[in-house]
Amino acid sequence: MTNVEQSQAQNSALERDCRTLSHHVLQQFQSFSQEAQDLSAIMNRIALAAKLISRRLSRAGIMEGALGVTGEENVQGESVKKMDVYANDVFISVFEQSGLVCRLASEEMEKPYYIPENCPIGRYTLLYDPVDGSSNIDTNLNVGSIFSICQQEGNDVDGNANDLLQTGRKQVAAGYILYGASTMLVYSTGNGVHSFTLDPSLGEFILAQENIQIPEYGAIYSLNEGNFWQWEEPLREYVRYVHRNEGYSARYGGALVGDFHRILLQGGVFLYPGTVKKPEGKLRLLYESAPLAFLTEQAGGRATTGTQEILDVIPDKIHMRTPLIIGSRENVKLVESFMPAQSQETAMAHSQT
Ligand code: AHG
Ligand code: MN
Ligand code: MN
Repeated sequence: MTNVEQSQAQNSALERDCRTLSHHVLQQFQSFSQEAQDLSAIMNRIALAAKLISRRLSRAGIMEGALGVTGEENVQGESVKKMDVYANDVFISVFEQSGLVCRLASEEMEKPYYIPENCPIGRYTLLYDPVDGSSNIDTNLNVGSIFSICQQEGNDVDGNANDLLQTGRKQVAAGYILYGASTMLVYSTGNGVHSFTLDPSLGEFILAQENIQIPEYGAIYSLNEGNFWQWEEPLREYVRYVHRNEGYSARYGGALVGDFHRILLQGGVFLYPGTVKKPEGKLRLLYESAPLAFLTEQAGGRATTGTQEILDVIPDKIHMRTPLIIGSRENVKLVESFMPAQSQETAMAHSQT
């Protein structure tokens, strides 16, 4: 390699290593406005939370008290893993004394957590699923964290955070962290979807891919077929169709973030429909489906409950669940083609947008 080539290689490596998350967020706003600075700082704190959780996950198997359940049940009626509690607390801790986020609404907390010293200066609320795919933790399989950032509206005087009961279209930013072979952070502020890979030697999330576009169509369908007996007939018809026709591939990892990330990059569809036991579905709107729907629409895909676009749903409570069909436009349309006429009208309306 000549000296010129060597210095060019060094420069491009240096350039790459300087494309950090906080820098990228500022670029998204093409300004140094207060909002841009706030979002950049918030994303930086989320990146710190991701690094803390990633570090613990990578050593959990040899750490006393890191794995297993707490013995408690959360507001969802689900058994709580020790890692759920740790991760939940990490997101709170990184925003204490930050002046940025005044409230945190979490899958693991019945009511939002207020950080009084940040209120009312910090006009942002973080809604999050601290560990998504908790059933994978003890078997060292991929898990994630999902986040959504909203502007506080009004002064929430009664402390019920009713202003959070709004459509996902009002999200200021959304994204997820995937704790996999590498730790990745994927986010959008409404200006495309961008992924970052954690370089542990630097302790920085470095830009990996900008403006990710979900393929128009993909071979993957992802759902828990163990629930077949609980589904309504139209969904069973869809599953029979993909069983009987060439060109489909089943992938289901039991962790939404990993299953979604695969579809974002390769195309296809993820479904968590309503079941006999949970007609409204299992996944929570505000900190699972809506953030991923925000990314999906930014990436050119679709996300629906089966009768309504996820981003148009107005929740009646913070932990509201909805069915979820999310992924490539053509794959979502195929699922909807098996649904009753009413949801096909919705599909038609949206497939022309
Ligand atoms: P969480 O661990 O945050 O409760 O989320 C688990 C969710 C989601 O990650 C995954 O897609 C789904 O539960 C899997 O549910 P089943 O085990 O019922 O398939
Ligand atoms: Mn989850
Ligand atoms: Mn969770």
